[in-house]
Amino acid sequence: QEADKRARILEINKTAAKYFYMLLQSQQGRAAREYFQKRELSEETIRHFGLGYSSKYSNDLYQYLKRQGYEDSVLKDCGLVTIDEKRGGYDKFWNRAMFPIMDANNRVIGFGGRVTGQGEPKYLNSPETAVFDKSRNLYGLNFARTSKKPQILLCEGYMDVIALHQAGFDNAVASLGTAFTSGHASLLKRYTKEVYLTFDSDGAGVKAALRALPILKEAGLTAKVINMTPYKDPDEFIKALGANGYQERIDQAENSFLFEIRMLERDYDMSDPEDKTAFFGQVAQKILNFSEELERENYIEAVAQRYQVGFEQLRNMVKHLGTRGY
Ligand code: UTP
Ligand code: MN
Ligand code: MN
Ligand code: MN
Ligand code: MN
Repeated sequence: QEADKRARILEINKTAAKYFYMLLQSQQGRAAREYFQKRELSEETIRHFGLGYSSKYSNDLYQYLKRQGYEDSVLKDCGLVTIDEKRGGYDKFWNRAMFPIMDANNRVIGFGGRVTGQGEPKYLNSPETAVFDKSRNLYGLNFARTSKKPQILLCEGYMDVIALHQAGFDNAVASLGTAFTSGHASLLKRYTKEVYLTFDSDGAGVKAALRALPILKEAGLTAKVINMTPYKDPDEFIKALGANGYQERIDQAENSFLFEIRMLERDYDMSDPEDKTAFFGQVAQKILNFSEELERENYIEAVAQRYQVGFEQLRNMVKHLGTRGY
């Protein structure tokens, strides 16, 4: 019965995705089409991702789904409409550019919808339903899972994924308007050993990266960090410097530990001897967390080189902090 319910929701989602796609091509969808054009998405990309448009009328989709024979008792659980006892059903998404969200098996499990002009929130997402678990799905994974690229690119937004795929990086995925979780990490683990973070270059992006790294590591994945500065995110980076520019940044991706300590460094005044010492104390403590001696030695070397401090001094610092063996 629960399986029946899930199957029905998936069917409704698929019907809705086709409806949004159809509306995008209609007279009504003109502003959204222009919006996608402004974002430099090709017709092929729009088709590939099944992008669409949700009507500006309050219950177009609801009426359409009713005409297709779906009852309120079924529609109330799909996350696309709200059923009000007195006023009847109305749609969740109005007048938005629509991004169907697929699971790894290409089934439409939910939607993201973006305003094409002013308005809040910028993105509205389907609520979690019997088929939509945001912490266990990633946008773009249905394509990325069969990519021939050696790693998976993890970014923040739908538009980043789309811009990257359009530029040939068919290994890009994003979480669904939520933080990256261990559920996401185990999902990625099925398809790759190595994840490159390509988050926004703003404070929120750095924070998100610092949160995601230990989760990836915990899952046994290797992580590196791609630097998007001076651009805001992969979408804007690609627009400015193209696929070749982005590939260079992939090639220059930073080791996750070295990224972490570079971010840590921001909290210290490195021209002040006391602060500088405290910083290296923190770094030494973090180096101690590596279980392999060779790994610790390699990081001591990398840090010593980057910050122009003596290898032996840093090594002694780590040794003194260490309790067992080292
Ligand atoms: P960003 O604010 O970085 O937007 O949010 P973006 O992806 O660069 O979007 P564009 O380029 O302006 O179109 C990153 C992600 O966070 C989620 C969405 O999944 C978005 O892709 N988000 C953001 C929301 O869910 N709601 C919001 O209001 C904003
Ligand atoms: Mn969940
Ligand atoms: Mn952002
Ligand atoms: Mn963006
Ligand atoms: Mn962004």
